[in-house]
Amino acid sequence: MKGSLVVLCLLVAFADRTESESPSEGDDPANQLTGQELLSSLDEAKKMVDEAYKLSRERSKADLDKTHVTPADFLKHLKEPMAATRTALRAASYLDTSLDLLKKKLQKKWMRPFNLTDVLTRKQKETISKVTGCDYVTRPITCPQNNPYRTITGECNNLKHPHYGASNHGYARWLPAEYEDGISLPRGLIQGQLYKGHTLPLVRSVSNEIITTSNENVTEDQERSLAFMHWGQWVDHDMDLAPMTEIGIDNKQVECTTDCNYAPPCFPIKVPPGDPRIKKSGVCMPFIRTAPACNPTTYVREQLNAITSYLDASMVYGSEEVLARNLRNNSNDLGLMALNQNFTDNGLGLLPFENKTKSLCLFTNKTANIPCFKGGDKRATENLGLTAMHTLFVREHNRLATELKKMNPHWDGEKLYQEARKIVDAENQVITFRDYLPLVLGNEMNRQLPLYTGYKESVDPTVANVFSLAFRFGHGSIPPLVPRLDHNFKPLAPYFYAHLSGTFCASWRIVMEGGIDPLVRGFLADHSKLMKQNQMMVEELQEHLFEQTEHIGLDLAALNLQRGRDHGLPGYNAWRRFCGLSAPSNEAELAVVMRNPKLAKKFIDLYGTPENIDIWVGSMAEPFVPYGRVGPLLACLIGNQFRKVRDGDRFWWEKDGVFTPKQRRALSRDSFSRIICDNTHIQEVPRDTFKRNHYPSDFVNCREVQGLDLSAWKE
Ligand code: HEM
Ligand SMILES: *[C@@H]1O[C@H](CO)[C@@H](O)[C@H](O)[C@H]1NC(C)=O
Ligand SMILES: *[C@@H]1O[C@H](CO)[C@@H](O)[C@H](O)[C@H]1NC(C)=O
Ligand SMILES: *[C@@H]1O[C@H](CO)[C@@H](O)[C@H](O)[C@H]1NC(C)=O
Ligand SMILES: *[C@@H]1O[C@H](CO)[C@@H](O)[C@H](O)[C@H]1NC(C)=O
Ligand SMILES: *[C@@H]1O[C@H](CO)[C@@H](O)[C@H](O)[C@H]1NC(C)=O
Ligand SMILES: *[C@@H]1O[C@H](CO)[C@@H](O)[C@H](O)[C@H]1NC(C)=O
Repeated sequence: MKGSLVVLCLLVAFADRTESESPSEGDDPANQLTGQELLSSLDEAKKMVDEAYKLSRERSKADLDKTHVTPADFLKHLKEPMAATRTALRAASYLDTSLDLLKKKLQKKWMRPFNLTDVLTRKQKETISKVTGCDYVTRPITCPQNNPYRTITGECNNLKHPHYGASNHGYARWLPAEYEDGISLPRGLIQGQLYKGHTLPLVRSVSNEIITTSNENVTEDQERSLAFMHWGQWVDHDMDLAPMTEIGIDNKQVECTTDCNYAPPCFPIKVPPGDPRIKKSGVCMPFIRTAPACNPTTYVREQLNAITSYLDASMVYGSEEVLARNLRNNSNDLGLMALNQNFTDNGLGLLPFENKTKSLCLFTNKTANIPCFKGGDKRATENLGLTAMHTLFVREHNRLATELKKMNPHWDGEKLYQEARKIVDAENQVITFRDYLPLVLGNEMNRQLPLYTGYKESVDPTVANVFSLAFRFGHGSIPPLVPRLDHNFKPLAPYFYAHLSGTFCASWRIVMEGGIDPLVRGFLADHSKLMKQNQMMVEELQEHLFEQTEHIGLDLAALNLQRGRDHGLPGYNAWRRFCGLSAPSNEAELAVVMRNPKLAKKFIDLYGTPENIDIWVGSMAEPFVPYGRVGPLLACLIGNQFRKVRDGDRFWWEKDGVFTPKQRRALSRDSFSRIICDNTHIQEVPRDTFKRNHYPSDFVNCREVQGLDLSAWKE
C-alpha cells in the first residue's frame, strides 16, 4: 500500500519533468482555478499540517514515558527546531502541502502534464505566499539605522538586504539544486535510475568501501593539535544548522525506524548485502530529511539554516530572541550569561541545564541523572570537547562583563551584555581568521582569503548549502579516543581515554569526571587525527555514532552522503567546474587528481563516473594543498564562504567604526591560549594552540601570555 503510494508520487513527479512546452492560453488550468478553490486548498492544507503537528506533539508527550532511546533519537534531539524555527517550518509545510493539493486538483481537471510554477498567475502566487506565511522571506523590514550592536537573528546586519545571513532562512545555492524530479525528491531514491549514464551507489556501500578506518589504524596528525579539530566544529556551529522535519503529511508515523520504504520525511539508508556489521536483510538505517524552507518563488525544495550565517558567536548567544533572553542571567543588571545553578566546575561556572521534563542526556547514564546543557546552539552537548568550548566562552563573557562593570560602573546590564558580546564575537573572528583558517587552507590562504579591504554591502554572507556539506571535512580529523589529562598533562586517573562513542551527549561526564580542564588539556597536548585517503573516518563515528547499549549506532559518513542527496547537491565535477578546476572524466584522470590510482578505481567501481561522486566524500578525498588540511576543491568552497561571511558583515571587527583603533589593537593581540588561561584553572598553555605542541617543551606559564587589555573600553 505504502509502496504504491510512493510509485504514484513518482509518476506524478515524472510527469512534471517530461513537460517542456508551456500550456496555451485557452486551456491554462489556472484560468479554471477560481479564487475560491485556491483559498479552500490553502485552508485544507493548513488543516492537514496543523493535524500533523498535533500528532507530533502528542508523540513527543508519549516519548516521555520511553525507558530507552535510539541513536536516531539523539540525532533528532540535536537538530530539533526551536520556537522561531518551528514557525518558519510550519509556513514551509503549509506551502508545500498547498502546492501538492493544487497539483492534484489541477491534474484531475487537466489531464496533461504541467508545471505549477508556469500555470499559477502572479496574483495567485502572492496569495499562496501570504496565506501560508512564507512571505516572511521577502517581506520588507524597516531596520533601525544606528544600532551599534548586531541583532540576535542577524536581520538588519545588511541594511539594504535585511534578510542576508539571518537565521531561519534558506541556505544559499551556488549551483542549482539537482533533484530526481527537479523539485524535491532526492537523487538515488529510485534504484536503477541513471545519472550521466550510471546509477548512484548506496551511501552505505561508499562508506564501507572508502571511508571506514579501524580504530587501530589511525594516524595522528603530527602538526595539528586536537584543538584544531574542535575549533572547526565550534566555528561551524556559529554558521549552520539544518533542522529535521518534524511532521509527515502522508506518513503519520514519522518514526523513521529501520523500515526501508521512502515515506517522507523518512529517507532510509539502505544496507548493501554483505555489510560488515548489519547482517539482517531488509533492515535500513533511519534517516530523516532536513526540513524544507519556504521558497515562494520557484517552489524548488530548499533547506533551512536555523542559525545566523555570520561569525557572530551565535552558538554562545543564540539565533533567536526568546532563547537569547533565556540564556542570560535575568536576576540582576550585570549583563551576565546564566550559569548552572546545581553544579560548578571547581568553583568555575558550567552551562545551565536544558529545561525539559525528560532530557535525552539522562539516558547516557541513568544513575548520574544529569540533563543536557543549554547553549546558544542546540548541539552544545553533542560531544565533550564541544561542551568545553561552549563553557569557555560563556565564562569569558561573564569575565568580560564583570571587568567592564568595574571600569564603567555607570553601564547598565544591557550595555554590559552587548559590549561583552561584541568582544566575544571579535575574539572568535580574530582566532578563526588569524590562527585557524591558515592551518586549513595552507598555501591557498592568501589566494582564497586576501586581506580585508572593507565591508561590501552587495556581498551575501548566507551560508551556502554546499558549505554545510563541504565543511564536514572535519569529520575526517576526529580521533577515536577522548583524552582527559591531569595537571601534569598525563592521562587523568581513573578516567584516562574514553571511547568517543561513550561520550556523545554525556553531560554527566563533565559534571562527574573532573569538569572541562582535563578536556581542554587534551585539546592542547594531544593530536587531531590525520585525514588520509585510506583512513577517512574512525569506526567510532562510522559504526557507533550515538550508539546506546540496546541499539546499533549510526554511520556519520552515510549520513553525510545521504544528506548531500537530501539537499539536492550536484556531484563532484559540477563543483570542480564551479571552482575553475579540471573535471576528470574517467578513472585515469581521476587518479591524477586524487594522486591515487587505487582510490580512483574504488570511486569508479562505485560511481561509474567522477561526475556523480557525492560532494562530501569527493572533496574530502583530494590530497591536501601544501601546508593545508584540505584539497583544492575544499579550499575554494571553504575560502569562498569565509570571504563572504567576512566581507558581507557590517559588524566585522576590522571594519572602520566598529571598534576604536585602540580596541582593535587589543583584540588583534588576543589568543585562544589567553582565553583558556583566564577561564580555567589551567596554568600552562602553548602559544600556538592549533599546532601540535609537546608538553612541557612547547608550553609557557599563563603569566607569560599577553592578557586582553580592556583599558580601551573605559569610557
Ligand atoms: C566529535 C566530533 C563531531 C561529531 C560527533 C559530529 C557529528 C555530526 C553530526 C551527527 C552531524 C549531522 C549529520 C546529519 O544528520 O547530516 C554533523 C553535521 C555537521 N558537522 Fe559534525 N561532528 C563533529 C565534528 C565536526 C567537525 C570537527 C566539523 C568541522 C570542522 C564538523 C562540521 C559539521 C558540519 C558543517 C555539519 C553540518 C551542520 C548543518 O548545517 O546542519 N563537525 N556533525
Ligand atoms: C517550471 O517552470 C519554471 C519557470 O519556467 C522553471 O524554472 C522550472 O525549472 C520548471 N520546473 C520543472 C520541474 O520543470
Ligand atoms: C591496518 O592496516 C594494516 C596495513 O595497512 C592492515 O594490514 C591491517 O589489516 C589493518 N587493520 C585493520 C584492523 O583494518
Ligand atoms: C545571576 O548572577 C548572580 C550574581 O552573580 C548569581 O548569584 C546567580 O547565581 C546568577 N544566576 C544565574 C541563573 O546564573
Ligand atoms: C537542580 O536544583 C534544583 C533546585 O534545587 C532541583 O529541583 C533540580 O532537580 C536539580 N537538578 C539536577 C539535575 O540536579
Ligand atoms: C522551565 O520551564 C518551565 C515550563 O516551561 C518554566 O515555567 C520555567 O520558568 C523554566 N525555568 C527556567 C529556569 O527556565
Ligand atoms: C554513571 O555515573 C556514575 C556517577 O554518577 C558512575 O559512577 C558510573 O560509572 C556511570 N556509569 C557508567 C555506565 O558509566
